Amino acid sequence: MTNIAVLVSGRGSNLQAIIDSIESGFLKASIAVVISDTGDAYALERARKHGIDAIFVDPRRFERKELFEEEVLRTMKGHCIDLVLLAGYMRVLGKTLLAPYKGRILNIHPALLPAFIGLHAQKQAFDHGVKVTGCTVHFVDETLDSGPIILQRCVEVKEDDTIETLTQRILEEEHKIYPLAVKLFIENRFRIEGRKVKIIK
Ligand code: GRF
Repeated sequence: MTNIAVLVSGRGSNLQAIIDSIESGFLKASIAVVISDTGDAYALERARKHGIDAIFVDPRRFERKELFEEEVLRTMKGHCIDLVLLAGYMRVLGKTLLAPYKGRILNIHPALLPAFIGLHAQKQAFDHGVKVTGCTVHFVDETLDSGPIILQRCVEVKEDDTIETLTQRILEEEHKIYPLAVKLFIENRFRIEGRKVKIIK
């Protein structure tokens, strides 16, 4: 059974999609712990409702990022974590967290990478006037939103879209591809060749 840690900062709808996929039997995994860097993240409440350990690690308690990440690491180590999922986690990971879980950290981004990295990707795409955007699940490495891509889904931008309606349709696709990517990881169904993630059918 794959043991997952989920790092969050906010609402946690992607966390919910993973929880639902486990509870429905789609994913043979268990979420050992949810860690948030904000105390009032709704994601913490979602986790607790499902009996999952939900821990707030307050970054303000630590002088440096490394010290904060060491505390996150300590929290995860007690749980024998195989896979780390970033789900709306608003911090760029440093070496302290990346090194021990190299190749085992995934992120979901609300745009078709490498377009529109960083914050407010949906708005960046919308303002740019693209006709198609979407979402991406990728491995996390030391560069922001740049690790090898596992899955992507397209979302058409409609003439009458607002940033809200577009964001909502992207989110619906996020909730589909994140569990799918996790399933591929758990079942070891891909090969990484350089930047390319080849999916084994
Ligand atoms: C999602 O749009 C995700 O792609 C991005 O942050 C948002 C998190 O939403 N990284 P939620 O907390 O999972 O609802």
